[in-house]
Amino acid sequence: MSAKDPVLQPPPGARPDWTIDQDWEGYTADEHQVWIRLYERQTALLPGRACDAFLHGLEALDLHRAGIPDFSRINAELERLTGWSVVAVPGLVPDEVFFDHLAHRRFPAGQFIRRPEQLDYLQEPDIFHDVFGHVPMLTDPTFADYMQAYGEGGLRALDLGRLHNLARLYWYTVEFGLLQTPAGLRIYGAGIVSSHAESIFALDDPSPNRLAFDLERVMRTPYRIDDFQQVYFVIPSLQALLDATLQDFAALYASIARRQDLAIDEVTPSDRVFTRGYQSYAARGGRTAA
Ligand code: PHE
Ligand code: CO
Repeated sequence: MSAKDPVLQPPPGARPDWTIDQDWEGYTADEHQVWIRLYERQTALLPGRACDAFLHGLEALDLHRAGIPDFSRINAELERLTGWSVVAVPGLVPDEVFFDHLAHRRFPAGQFIRRPEQLDYLQEPDIFHDVFGHVPMLTDPTFADYMQAYGEGGLRALDLGRLHNLARLYWYTVEFGLLQTPAGLRIYGAGIVSSHAESIFALDDPSPNRLAFDLERVMRTPYRIDDFQQVYFVIPSLQALLDATLQDFAALYASIARRQDLAIDEVTPSDRVFTRGYQSYAARGGRTAA
């Protein structure tokens, strides 16, 4: 959808920018319990798996205290650290609304939490994915700048008709990114750190490819929204990621437009390979076969 198309209206009760009140008092004891179970399961798993910036952010925001966090409490600290804040939205919002929030250092987070029988998987991002997964990284000054730049870049990509390419950058960094460290690969992507099974799969499973991050390469690589990734891209540092995206993407979009997409499991001669995956999980049929 381009920014010139008729703009979708927010649902009843939402403000023109699609935000709603979090209504923290309205969460039930069972809903808080779901948060606590997910929180405890992930924090037991993540030391030695999540990157330091994520683990520090988690600690700085003290996200677990009484179950589902109150955004007004998180925001006091987050605004002090990097000038970001979290705003509640009813669910997925239109692209231009999403990008506009990011460009203004506001992260739109789902207000609802998954049901107890959905602990392992749900398709729409809930408050656990959005807040536990995304918000800790926003305490890192470099990542905070990257997310704002992404919002600005999203508005441009919409105008240029290249959102499908830019969306892959979000997917393979913000959602499913890995970071190289002297101690080994670490997770910084929210889609991984908020998932118990993928926090193990992304680092340990012999199935997926793990390749060095390359901006144009990533923009030519399709992704899957319904299952574990078949490829993860590894950045050398958060600063390197920010530096790689400072260039004007218009020229990059033009060059990509002349080339074909890669296959999702392809490894090319110019790829720097961390792990060449067997793709055995995908070949077995993935989640549907499990
Ligand atoms: N530099 C990009 C552009 O010119 C903007 C951007 C920055 C996009 C960071 C994504 C991440 O469009
Ligand atoms: Co997400």
